[in-house]
Amino acid sequence: MAYGLLYGMASRDIVLCFFLAAFLYSSFGQAMPKSEVQPEFLALLENHTVIQGRDVSFTCVVNHLQSYKVAWMKSDSKAILAIHTRMVAQNPRLSVTHNGHNTWKLHVTNVQPNDSGTYMCQVNTDPMRSQTGHMKVVIPPDIMDLDDSADLLTAKENSDLRLRCRATGTPKPVVTWRREDGRNITLRTEHSVQRVKSYEGEQLHLRGILRQEMGSYLCIASNGVPPTVSKRYYVNVRFKPLIKVSNQLVAAPANSDVVLHCYVESWPKALNTWYRDDGMKLLSDEKHVLTELPLNDYAYQLNLTIRRLNRDDFGSYTCAAENLLGKAEGTIRLQELHLTRTTSVPIRYNTEFIDKHGPKKQLERKGKHYTFGWEGGSLSKNSGNTGHTASVLKRNSSNALMDVTVKKSKVSSYPAPAPAPAHFAPTQQNVQNSVTSPRQHSRLNCVGLMFAFLVIVICSW
Ligand SMILES: *[C@@H]1O[C@H](CO)[C@@H](O)[C@H](O)[C@H]1NC(C)=O
Ligand SMILES: *[C@@H]1O[C@H](CO)[C@@H](O)[C@H](O)[C@H]1NC(C)=O
Ligand SMILES: *[C@@H]1O[C@H](CO)[C@@H](O)[C@H](O)[C@H]1NC(C)=O
Ligand SMILES: *[C@@H]1O[C@H](CO)[C@@H](O)[C@H](O)[C@H]1NC(C)=O
Ligand SMILES: *[C@@H]1O[C@H](CO)[C@@H](O)[C@H](O)[C@H]1NC(C)=O
Repeated sequence: MAYGLLYGMASRDIVLCFFLAAFLYSSFGQAMPKSEVQPEFLALLENHTVIQGRDVSFTCVVNHLQSYKVAWMKSDSKAILAIHTRMVAQNPRLSVTHNGHNTWKLHVTNVQPNDSGTYMCQVNTDPMRSQTGHMKVVIPPDIMDLDDSADLLTAKENSDLRLRCRATGTPKPVVTWRREDGRNITLRTEHSVQRVKSYEGEQLHLRGILRQEMGSYLCIASNGVPPTVSKRYYVNVRFKPLIKVSNQLVAAPANSDVVLHCYVESWPKALNTWYRDDGMKLLSDEKHVLTELPLNDYAYQLNLTIRRLNRDDFGSYTCAAENLLGKAEGTIRLQELHLTRTTSVPIRYNTEFIDKHGPKKQLERKGKHYTFGWEGGSLSKNSGNTGHTASVLKRNSSNALMDVTVKKSKVSSYPAPAPAPAHFAPTQQNVQNSVTSPRQHSRLNCVGLMFAFLVIVICSW
């Protein structure tokens, strides 16, 4: 009765083994085979890599077993699991089967990490014969919920933000970070800025975070065992609103519709308002249409459409954005665009009379009418006035012309306009008339300008 098991056994196992030996002896001891043919294994015991929770079995094929017995052991713990078709281990997840011929199987259901190890199929010959197979239990990655790590993270602009992601699994998972939209992650140190597609590590330290880095970040844990898991962190960057106004001066003719634009950056989202220079807050109504078009996580376009412009609509408009961190404003001046047609002398001036501080100058002359037309659709293009005051107006010059006759008495009732700053002064007068000669033009120009000057002087006096 040499099972060869006693060597190196723990005392508990020895007791167990003793009982086992006694049992085996009483059952089978008398019938020990005397044959010369010895049992032999027909195949190696397999090795298994199995995902936790799955079922697995080892198969032991023995020929010429005769009256010898097959036993299953776990080599590392030296525990006898089963003998023949009887279970010895008190483990409901283990079972053995025999196909009635030469094949014995050890089944393990709902495999657990502590099932990993070396399994042995053994025959009680003298000396005993055995073979071994390994079981490796792997666990798919999982991302732990850390108490101090919310998935919605907020930091003030230029401050530091740390994203933490701890993953479990066997083998130990690798944690990588990416931006959900595929943009690069910005990593700053004291001396450098690095942009990387992905970053490996349980902690992603975003130093001096900027608004452009706002958005979804993914922590991805993988260890080769499917499925790979990820967790999304939404990063918000708080900052004071910013407003940009590309056209600070807009000119449009009466009765037309005009759209004023403001570009806003803000997080948290700002409360946006439009108001007029008289302090009146604008609301959407039949006269005004207020829209907000989101451009990204923190920027949007504010449009104010003013319908059927009338005299009262010209003036300053302010767009304002306010959040918890502050307030920003942008002001747009809306001016009337005068379009007049000549009756006696058909001269067209490409002239922009723009005054930053006062209303548009009223130019008038008794008996003669000048035409101020827009060529090419853009004030800045022809007038030579460039910079931030350039207004864009798309209009066909020939059908935009209209008669404007201003009486002198009416003009004098207007407040005199302040002198235009140098860079807003009419800089160019393109005379584009094929009827009059260049000399006539210059003379007419001269007369016209002198007259205009006189009017201004009289008015301001
Ligand atoms: C099982 O793995 C061991 C080494 O880990 C190797 O010697 C043996 O041949 C493997 N068995 C099979 C059936 O591949
Ligand atoms: C193995 O792990 C399972 C589940 O974690 C547990 O129920 C069982 O008692 C463990 N078995 C041993 C031998 O440690
Ligand atoms: C993003 O990072 C990759 C390397 O990770 C680099 O090759 C690429 O140029 C970066 N793109 C930008 C726009 O910085
Ligand atoms: C606001 O104006 C911009 C620029 O003209 C335009 O592209 C956009 O469609 C407008 N948005 C809305 C909501 O009207
Ligand atoms: C302007 O309008 C007139 C008639 O309405 C047309 O004949 C002319 O082609 C237009 N010019 C441009 C530049 O659109």
